[in-house]
Amino acid sequence: MHLLPFHRRPLAISCFLGLLFGASFAQAATPQRHAFLAGQHAKNGIACAECHGKTRPVKVDDSEDGVNLSCVRCHGTLKEVGAKAQGHVNPHVSHLGDIHCTACHSGHQGSRVYCANCHGFELKIPFPSTSLATAQAAPKPPRPEALRQRERADVVVIGSGAAGMVAALTAHDAGAKVVVLEKQPITGGNSMLAAGGMNAAATRFQAKKGIQDSVELMVKDTLTGGKNLNEPALVKILAEQSAASVDYLTELGADLSDVGRMGGASVDRTHRPQGGKAVGAHIVDVLRANAAKRKLDVRVNSRAVRLLENRQGRITGVLVQGRHRGFYRIDAKAVVLAAGGFSANPDRVAHYQPAFRGMTSSNQPGATGDGLDLGATAGGVLKDMEQIQIHPSIAAGSRILITEAVRGNGAILVNRDGKRFVNEITTRDAASKATLAQPGQSAFMVFDEGVRQSLKQIDGYFHLELVKEGATPEALAAAIQVPPQALKDTIERYNQAVAAKADAEFKRPDLPRALATPKFYAIEVKPGVHYTMGGLKISPRTEVMAKDGQPIPGFFAAGEVTGGVHGANRLGGNSISETITFGRIAGAEAAAAARASAKP
Ligand code: FAD
Ligand code: FUM
Repeated sequence: MHLLPFHRRPLAISCFLGLLFGASFAQAATPQRHAFLAGQHAKNGIACAECHGKTRPVKVDDSEDGVNLSCVRCHGTLKEVGAKAQGHVNPHVSHLGDIHCTACHSGHQGSRVYCANCHGFELKIPFPSTSLATAQAAPKPPRPEALRQRERADVVVIGSGAAGMVAALTAHDAGAKVVVLEKQPITGGNSMLAAGGMNAAATRFQAKKGIQDSVELMVKDTLTGGKNLNEPALVKILAEQSAASVDYLTELGADLSDVGRMGGASVDRTHRPQGGKAVGAHIVDVLRANAAKRKLDVRVNSRAVRLLENRQGRITGVLVQGRHRGFYRIDAKAVVLAAGGFSANPDRVAHYQPAFRGMTSSNQPGATGDGLDLGATAGGVLKDMEQIQIHPSIAAGSRILITEAVRGNGAILVNRDGKRFVNEITTRDAASKATLAQPGQSAFMVFDEGVRQSLKQIDGYFHLELVKEGATPEALAAAIQVPPQALKDTIERYNQAVAAKADAEFKRPDLPRALATPKFYAIEVKPGVHYTMGGLKISPRTEVMAKDGQPIPGFFAAGEVTGGVHGANRLGGNSISETITFGRIAGAEAAAAARASAKP
């Protein structure tokens, strides 16, 4: 049948097609459903089939890939839409990368701006949802044996952050058939938000800059930062494999050539893209592109609900809840759990650390700790659960993390009296504690144009209007309402310390540049829940350990869902390093376990 262009197609044809394609159109055409995008499309003469495809009955896959292709066909790619849109904050241009239209826009229910999970700015969306909930109340899962929908894979990976995607790519490249499950409508997890960089010792990029570092020094810094609660065997792997993990990402197409410093490190070892761009969005882009190139089966809107096991206690698959498909099971020879931490779950945080109740969090909304329940229910041991990290610099009144790299590149922290109060690049626990002891329990991160130019990601804070400025220290002081003479004196004293290469007052070990280039800037910051050090106990081969001290067969874990690498306090930059290194190990081990279980 020859169809007219969408905008000229009469409603009668749409209704006919609606009847032809069944219930979906009928639902979309009811008065209530007309309130949403589907109804609007129908009013404009666009039939169900134009969005949903010409299959019968009309089906939408959990990832909504088909529907998204339809959106793109009519409206253009996200990039094209972004290029056309105007306004100071343009939600179609974001650090979340190339995400599906359906992450925000819904056909048959209220739409919501995904960015609103973290950002407070007002953004309009057609047919908005009145509720902020991302997921419907979970129906009770059925018994897995009763499920008719059943698939098979060699390896199922739960979570699409850096650990999960690296594990999946590694397992795939080792010959395994892999499925990646992600409960959110977009991939990337917290990894997508990572800012300051990835720690690695004795890399080619450090060598190029003449930075002397070693595996031993990274081990020492990590153990000291973690108050020696860390598992030394895991720390050794983290440091030993870190340079290889930088090489691995570089081979996949990442740029980690800029090297700076973060808290608790003895030397510059934090790797990030040139110019100081945020590390997470870049790495996730690279991992997504590599997954697409390999046609990896990555499913969003797909929640792992339970792990399946056999009578011998071997993990044999996953019970999944797909957004449209409902419950189904994937039988697998190995499962890699990479479901991240729980900093975005205030109740769970308060359960382990009552003092942190009510604090803001830097994390994405999916960081709720499901992985801990999945792992513990399957017999995994949890360790160090009360070790929760608060990050000292979340922009006051927001969920936006101001990367430690700003301090690493030279910013100082001052209180409401305009005075410094801490070594700004100490470990996070110490910097947070010192900030909470100041009047108002917040601080101002103060820097100049020189620091701004050294780190590209600072531009984002200007874009989000988080920065106050002044042509002189006194003018800045007026803008942030601290005593002008005090701030001027503080900056002068700091600059003298930089010139003398010694900070007698606070013993800051690294003084990269004087704060002397106008303009002068400040962001008010407060501590917020950032990272959960505790999690599933793993072996050096990423096997999940049971109470009897034995690994659970077929079950591996990597990334923030595990405990032990960081002890009582993680050093900035060590998590991305952990996700890549242990993601690679988990992927290789899972593929090997799948191969071994296939042998007669
Ligand atoms: P994630 O990246 O969080 O991925 C886990 C995924 O699993 C999520 O997408 C989640 O939705 C999904 N998931 C959860 N439950 C389920 C389920 N039941 N079924 C299916 N999917 C599920 N670290 C550094 O080293 N350097 C930095 O510069 C840095 N900056 C940071 C900045 C911010 C703002 C934040 C929040 C963190 C930062 N971190 C940084 C920490 C680091 O980003 C994270 O710890 C790390 O990315 C975790 O990776 P992951 O793969 O373990 O988990
Ligand atoms: O401040 C930051 O850039 C965060 C780093 C980290 O959590 O490792």
